[in-house]
Amino acid sequence: MSSVPRRHFLAQLGAGAAGLAVAPRLIAAQLPTIEALVAGRAQVAPERLAEDEAFWAEVRRGFDVPEGVVNLDHGNISPVARDVIEDLVRHVRATQPFPAKRMNELHREVDAAVVRPGLARLLGVPADEVALVRNATEALDTVLLGVPLRAGDEIVCSAHDYFAMLDALEQRRAREGVVLRVVRPPVPLPSVDALAALYERELGPKTRLVLVTHPSNLTGQLAPVRRIADAAHRVGAEVVVDGAQSMALLPYTLPELGCDYFGASLHKWLAAPVGGGVLWMRKESAEKVWPLVPPPKGAKGLDRFTWGGTHPRHVQAAAAPALALHEQLGAARKAARMRYLTSYWRSRVERLPGVRLYTTAAPEASCGLATVELGALDPKAVKQALWEQDRIFVQSMTGYDRSPEIRGIRVTPNVYTSLAELDRFAGALIRLVRHGIG
Ligand SMILES: Cc1ncc(COP(=O)(O)O)c(C=O)c1O
Repeated sequence: MSSVPRRHFLAQLGAGAAGLAVAPRLIAAQLPTIEALVAGRAQVAPERLAEDEAFWAEVRRGFDVPEGVVNLDHGNISPVARDVIEDLVRHVRATQPFPAKRMNELHREVDAAVVRPGLARLLGVPADEVALVRNATEALDTVLLGVPLRAGDEIVCSAHDYFAMLDALEQRRAREGVVLRVVRPPVPLPSVDALAALYERELGPKTRLVLVTHPSNLTGQLAPVRRIADAAHRVGAEVVVDGAQSMALLPYTLPELGCDYFGASLHKWLAAPVGGGVLWMRKESAEKVWPLVPPPKGAKGLDRFTWGGTHPRHVQAAAAPALALHEQLGAARKAARMRYLTSYWRSRVERLPGVRLYTTAAPEASCGLATVELGALDPKAVKQALWEQDRIFVQSMTGYDRSPEIRGIRVTPNVYTSLAELDRFAGALIRLVRHGIG
C-alpha cells in the first residue's frame, strides 16, 4: 500500500464508496470537440470534407502521433485516441487491484450495456446477435471451425483470404475431409464483377460455406459481398464475411451485405484498444455452431461464443469512447477521406517504371489499403530502407506460399494522415525506384 500514490488510492476508495467500481465515462474529453467540428460541417459532403486538411488536423490532435515518423501501417493495428488510452488506463487501475469483483462489474456495466449495443448499431443488427470476442481470428475461426459439416462438403474461399482463416480451413480439411475450392484472383482484377464470377464458378450443390474477405489484407481488393452472398444462397450455402479491414471504415450494415456470419477486429478501423473482436450471427445459427471453447452449461445464444477462460475483459470496455468517436465522424466521412489520401499518393507513384498497384482506384474496388509492387525491388528491403532512411513505416507483403504473386509494400494511411506525410512517402518511393536501395 505504501507504494501507491495517495491520490490514486483515494480515487479508488471514492469509486468504491459510490457503489460502482468503474463508472463508465462515456463522453470522453475530445468528443465534444469532434462533435462541434462535425456540426460545423454538417452540410459538407464527405468527398469535400475529405480535402479539408484543417478538419483532419483537428481530428489528429486527439491522438498522440509519434513525432518524426510517418506511420503508413494502420491496417495492421490502429493507434487509439488519447481519450481511449485514458479510459483503458482508468479501467486497468480500477480493475486490477480487485479484479475478481471489478472486472465482472465492468463487463456488465460497459461491455454488455454500452459496447455490445454500440457494435450492434454500427452493424445494423440486434444487440443479442453480437458477441464480444478477442479479435477477428477468434470470431471467424469460431464459424469456420464450428459450422457442422461432413466429409465431402465444400467450402469456397480465396487464396487472398487472411492466412489464419485459411489455416483454420486447412485444419478442417485434414481433420474432417471437407473440400476447399480456392478462388485465385489475378492482380489487379479488371472489375469487381470479375471477382464475383470467380466465386460463382466454384459454387455448386455441395457448397456449404463461402468465406469472403472484404477487403483482402494482401491487396486491398474489395469484394462484391452482396452479389457473392446472393449466388451462394441460391445453391443453399451460407456466407461468412471477414470484415476486419472494412468495419468502421466503409459505410454498410450487415443486412446490406446479406451474409450469415461476420467477424472483425475492434483494434483496426474502430481504433479501440488491442484485444477486441466482434462476431455476428443470427440467434438461430448460434444454436448449431460449435463454440471454439466449450462454454459453461446454460450459456445461450451468442454468449456461447464469448467464453475463453479468464482474460482482460476490461480492455474491451475502452472500446466505448472509440465507438463514440466513430459515431461522431461516421463511416462515410472516414471512407471518403481514406479514398482521397490513397488516390493522392497513388497518383504520385503509379506511373513510375515497374510500379504496379494491386487494385484499380475505382471506388467499388478499393478504399484505404493499397499494395504496390516496385519492379524488382525486394519488399522487405524497401520496408527496411523506408524505415532506416526516412522513418516511414509500411508493411511488406511477400513470401506467402498460397499467393507467391504478392510481392509489394502495403500502405495504409489513417484519416488524419497529412498530405505532407504522403509527399514525404512518395518522394522516398520515387528515390528508391529511380536509384535503388542505397
Ligand atoms: C483481412 C483480415 N482478417 C483478419 C485479420 C486478423 O485480425 P486479428 O488480428 O484481429 O485476429 C486481419 C489482420 O490483419 C486482416 O487483415
